[in-house]
Amino acid sequence: MDWGLQNRLSRIIKPKTGRTVMLAVDHGYFQGPTTGLQQPGKTIKPLIPYADSLMLTRGVLRNCIDPGIDTPIVLRVSGGTSVLKELSNEGLMTCVEEAIRLNVAAITLSIFVGGEYERQTLLALGQLADEGNKYGIPVLAVTAVGREMARDARYLGLACRIAAELGAHFVKTYYCDDFEKVVEGCPVPLVIAGGKKLAEREALQMAYNAVSRGASGVDMGRNIFQSDSPVGMIKAVRAIVQRNMSVDEAYKIYEDTKTKKATALA
Ligand code: R5P
Repeated sequence: MDWGLQNRLSRIIKPKTGRTVMLAVDHGYFQGPTTGLQQPGKTIKPLIPYADSLMLTRGVLRNCIDPGIDTPIVLRVSGGTSVLKELSNEGLMTCVEEAIRLNVAAITLSIFVGGEYERQTLLALGQLADEGNKYGIPVLAVTAVGREMARDARYLGLACRIAAELGAHFVKTYYCDDFEKVVEGCPVPLVIAGGKKLAEREALQMAYNAVSRGASGVDMGRNIFQSDSPVGMIKAVRAIVQRNMSVDEAYKIYEDTKTKKATALA
């Protein structure tokens, strides 16, 4: 792998552990001011010290994030749809020169395997991988799943493998039963999305199961920023992913952080 590309990837997936805690805060690109991200800058700021990278769009990056931070940025470059329309009809929205100008560590897009616009999103992945390779910028492919599709190992294994075959340098997918089969069939690192908000312990259990079964970490959004203690939650997720802590230990970190804040406010 090209030195620059490997160096950028090493800023995200820490070589010491082979793992990463990515904070996904790009939801506004198709959901608008979604719950917890109405004021992205305010939400993101206290979480930055615990994130190995931030995944967001150029609009939030340029307007809400201090350029002085040294946290690697994973820039979402696909879009063009909203929750009001067919979500799979995405295209590339941001060019690689803009990504370079923004000094990002990786670029990311969604692919919709089995979706109405499967071909166009896969062609976009191929194009982005070419550009990423040209400039030494890794590409993260997100396996987006249509409402009607099953999030099982067969489907996710297919989508992740296609992403890697077409040139993605790492892949983001969903956790599922038999997750190790998805990992086994994918020759590049995998991280999991958190998905819809779950109870905190349940989300921590999912992160624990994913890394125990071969994920290189998480790229989690709603289960962090929609928690009643976002800082507590990201610290707890970090304890599991980067420090191999148990779910009970991590849950205690979440609870202690939440209680401390409540006491400080009382
Ligand atoms: C969706 O395509 C976006 O990339 C989100 O970043 C992704 O769904 C991860 O966030 P969450 O953990 O909230 O599912």
